[in-house]
Amino acid sequence: MRARISGTGSYAPPGVMTNADFEKMVDTSDEWIVSRTGIRERRIATDDMSCADMAAEASRRALASAGYTHEDIDLVICGTVTPDYRLPSNACVLQEMIGFPNAVAFDVTAACTGFITGLSIASAYIATGQHKRALIVGAEKLSSITNYGDRNTCVLFGDGAGAVVLEGCDDGRGVLSTFMRSDGSLRSWLWIDRGGSRYPHSSDGPIGTSDKILMNGSDVFKVAVRAMGAAASKVIEDAGLTPDDIALFIPHQANLRIIEAIAKRLKLPPEKVYLNIERYGNTSAASVPIALDEASREGRLKPGDNVVMVAFGGGMIWGAAAVKW
Ligand code: ACO
Repeated sequence: MRARISGTGSYAPPGVMTNADFEKMVDTSDEWIVSRTGIRERRIATDDMSCADMAAEASRRALASAGYTHEDIDLVICGTVTPDYRLPSNACVLQEMIGFPNAVAFDVTAACTGFITGLSIASAYIATGQHKRALIVGAEKLSSITNYGDRNTCVLFGDGAGAVVLEGCDDGRGVLSTFMRSDGSLRSWLWIDRGGSRYPHSSDGPIGTSDKILMNGSDVFKVAVRAMGAAASKVIEDAGLTPDDIALFIPHQANLRIIEAIAKRLKLPPEKVYLNIERYGNTSAASVPIALDEASREGRLKPGDNVVMVAFGGGMIWGAAAVKW
């Protein structure tokens, strides 16, 4: 028994922030942002739209695309670093919003790798028969943890959500292989050090601590290329495939130059690499499922196609999945 993706959905808030908007806020330029990152605009949620609101919309669309209702789902996993609350999980908030009466719901905290981590966990549960039908969501309101005075990070991030329905299948399709790895010694390359139990919001905290994202971009860049390249190669090999067998490569949309470097390592031609970074920027855990949903709706995925997804994020944590569509 394998776990097959039987439906996809995504939601991006309507508000658009362009590079020209950032030129008015920090010392940057459209030319710098496009040439260094590939990003032209990103979607930003209004104050009254929460991460779970976006997750709920993406989830409804995924359920509709799979032809199921909320009652058919027995596992809900939400990947996010921007949950509505510290307690309970975003997945439980989502469960209240949509109502999954037959499910257990929980979050995974794996930054940009949150969706792939959820997919990996759920596919293992489904393969063993512990769960029958799962909803995996990646949702982020990164605008809530972005410092709009820091040009090193603010131009990179956007908001949105993506979701898939995963269920058992025995016709050869489904998740062929997954790979997950992390290195906590690199945690201080991408972090938020205030607002947790070590330095609560109520405390002053040491000088330099922040409740917004801090990032050592150039170090993250180098490790991201190496780690995502290796993870993608591993799932391709473990699935008994070669890069030539891959119909579509869906990488985390963090930086166009990172994506191009990985594609070069894997010897994948540009037409096999899915890109939407110029419209959304980095939406962390939502990035891969939004791209997967758009690829599916654009008709770029045919039954039997081999698809590889890969992501990398704060932790540092990275992972990949090879799927037969
Ligand atoms: N506009 C203009 N100049 C800028 C900007 C900006 N928006 N941001 C940085 N710069 C400047 C820097 O200050 C630096 O100036 P200096 O040389 O005077 O000090 C110069 O540009 C070069 O900075 P670098 O960091 O070397 O630039 P780089 O080419 O590495 O690009 C970037 C920076 C885009 C952040 C890149 O390093 C990157 O994408 N890193 C990876 C980020 C990532 O993938 N994160 C994934 C995980 S995200 C998550 O988990 C939520």
